Amino acid sequence: MQLISQRLCMEKDLGIHGNLFGGIMLSWLDEAAATMAYEVCHSPNMVTLKIDEVIFTKPVKIGFHLKIYGEVLRLGKSSITLLVEARKHNVYSGEETLVCSTNFTFVRIDDHGDAIPISERVRERYAHLDASKKESK
Ligand SMILES: CC(C)(COP(=O)(O)OP(=O)(O)OC[C@H]1O[C@@H](n2cnc3c(N)ncnc32)[C@H](O)[C@@H]1OP(=O)(O)O)[C@@H](O)C(=O)NCCC(=O)NCCS
Repeated sequence: MQLISQRLCMEKDLGIHGNLFGGIMLSWLDEAAATMAYEVCHSPNMVTLKIDEVIFTKPVKIGFHLKIYGEVLRLGKSSITLLVEARKHNVYSGEETLVCSTNFTFVRIDDHGDAIPISERVRERYAHLDASKKESK
């Protein structure tokens, strides 16, 4: 997986139980995933279509340093699906602990907001993902 963003959990990010508020985590993941989708698809005109099941594996407390990683799972004609993970990073040991993960699907849109194909060049670069899926069936 590739590192796409880093965040520090501050007091303003906490919910009423003293953990990072889930909606804040989701916005961090969405923003990080969007930047990766832009980069991979060579286009800033990508919108979030779908967020799969979100698992908040561990609580995130004030002062935690989070690293957000992404990986391309699927590249369709106009859509891209990324696996995104937030991991707590321990600066002393370098140890990373998964705290939240989900899949995001983004769609490339035109000026009217309609879905349009991701460039052929990009799709060719990720064609191996479809091939490996077929082989594993
Ligand atoms: C994204 C959007 C343009 C797609 O419109 P649409 O009419 O579904 O477009 P299409 O039918 O051409 O589908 C586009 C792609 O989405 C995929 N898709 C559509 N509905 C889907 C669903 N429920 N689950 C998974 N994929 C889906 C299609 O398979 C297609 O992928 P592909 O081209 O890679 O095969 C439209 O849903 C939209 O504007 N949504 C709001 C986006 C938004 O505001 N997001 C929040 C802020 S960024």
